Amino acid sequence: MPPHIAVLNGPNLNLLGEREPEVYGRATLAEVEARTRERARTLGVELEWCQTNHEGELVEAIQQLSGKADGAVINAAAFTHTSLAVRDALLAVRVPFVEVHLSNIFGREPERRRSLLADVAVGVVAGFGAESYRLGLEGLVGYLQSRHGR
Ligand code: DQA
Repeated sequence: MPPHIAVLNGPNLNLLGEREPEVYGRATLAEVEARTRERARTLGVELEWCQTNHEGELVEAIQQLSGKADGAVINAAAFTHTSLAVRDALLAVRVPFVEVHLSNIFGREPERRRSLLADVAVGVVAGFGAESYRLGLEGLVGYLQSRHGR
């Protein structure tokens, strides 16, 4: 069975393309999804994609990963910096995930430099715009392969 990867997107990412393009670029979320799906296809992984503006829905989406997804690529957007509930859900399900951001959060305002998720992630990719998702997916797939090959 091909590995199953979920890509979870948090609040305001539905506005990509029109939202602060100087920070987040001009690609829409649908375009980011299409590019990521293209890479998933060549990597031979199955991709599930979702976006929500609601913290509880993101928590539920993470809870539902259990037993279903081999890994996840997560852009929790602003919840990255604020949500213990998202962190707790990730700790509960123990599905390996890569944290991704379009912008380099470590070069932005102090409140964005802190992630409540990064220390429990396999890794973090930030600052490459839409390519962060592709890079995150590649990193995750490599991690899963090396883990299974051990
Ligand atoms: C973001 C960075 C967050 O600080 C911000 O709240 C977002 C998007 C990014 O992808 O660069 O909404 O996660």
